[in-house]
Amino acid sequence: MVPHDHFYEVYSESEILDIVATLDVRREVPRAYNYFDDGAHYWDKYAHELEAQDTPNIMNRTRSLLDANQGYIDTLIKPFHRVNVIDIGVGNALPVRSFLGNLLSSGKLGRYLALDISPGMLEIAEQNIKSWFDDKINFEGHKIDITHERFGNFLANEYLNNQSESTINLILFLGGTLGNLRAPADTLAVIANSMGRADMLLMSQKLDSTRTRHYFDFNTSPNNPSLAPIHRFVFDMLNIDESLYRVEMGFHPEHHARYIRVHLIVSLQIEFRLADGIRLISLEKGDSILLWYFWQQTLPEVSDQLIKGGFYPIHLSQSPDKEYLLSIARLDSSLTF
Ligand SMILES: C[S@@+](CC[C@H](N)C(=O)[O-])C[C@H]1O[C@@H](n2cnc3c(N)ncnc32)[C@H](O)[C@@H]1O
Repeated sequence: MVPHDHFYEVYSESEILDIVATLDVRREVPRAYNYFDDGAHYWDKYAHELEAQDTPNIMNRTRSLLDANQGYIDTLIKPFHRVNVIDIGVGNALPVRSFLGNLLSSGKLGRYLALDISPGMLEIAEQNIKSWFDDKINFEGHKIDITHERFGNFLANEYLNNQSESTINLILFLGGTLGNLRAPADTLAVIANSMGRADMLLMSQKLDSTRTRHYFDFNTSPNNPSLAPIHRFVFDMLNIDESLYRVEMGFHPEHHARYIRVHLIVSLQIEFRLADGIRLISLEKGDSILLWYFWQQTLPEVSDQLIKGGFYPIHLSQSPDKEYLLSIARLDSSLTF
């Protein structure tokens, strides 16, 4: 079988090589590539559905934790004249709408930088920011892969112009995205190496509990699971029809992660067209392919991960049901000598 022609338009050569290598070596489709092209619209639709739900979810809890902690965040930014917001993995920007609105009303909002691996997500976020705030917020979108690309260079001007003393950068990493990445500690190091001394990292995520280990809110039943559109885009681009696999979702006690994977009902050979030739990937009947995971962490584990990553957690705020967390951390300057 061969991927859809559109596959070669959506992804760059290096992204295709990454998809091929990860499929070959790890039997995994990197989650991030499902946010491209139509995948960005699938996420946008899903995020709006989450926002409209009354039951707790990562979208409405992230928003309410940001609201509930606004007073505290105001205290932290009080000494600064200007606040830049750097939104990593911006999605459709929905969780930050009122947060940005508050900063705008305070007169302190400086730059708003949106960083995302998906050009489609950046386009949707830009349209949203324009429609919510007219031209009052200048959207600066950058396509980067946060697992290995630093963003400090986007802020270099401010250092050169000596604005850094009166400016603070708030780095947002919302929606539990860190927990979807293969090596969260490596990504935290990239973020730490992009931050300035006074800057703060704000992350939201779902916490581990017996209940959340079995929680999937992707509009699909765990007893008769199918792949939700937000997890299927790459498979669709590869022309792998849903009749060719069985979907499994669950909690892996050894890896301490929730996961979604598929088991192939038939053997498949996928022929990829690369710049210097054809690459054939053979998948056997019964092989499983990992499509999504989330590393389950308790609050002490999140705190520990931040400390090991060179951060000092200054604030950990949980939702009343203790299932969602907003963490605020600075770089731990005591580690320098
Ligand atoms: C779970 S969504 C969260 C979106 C938004 N922050 C929210 O809370 O609704 C993850 C977002 O991160 C982006 N993303 C995933 N992996 C990434 C990576 N390695 N580098 C940059 N962005 C990434 C996706 O394209 C998507 O927009």
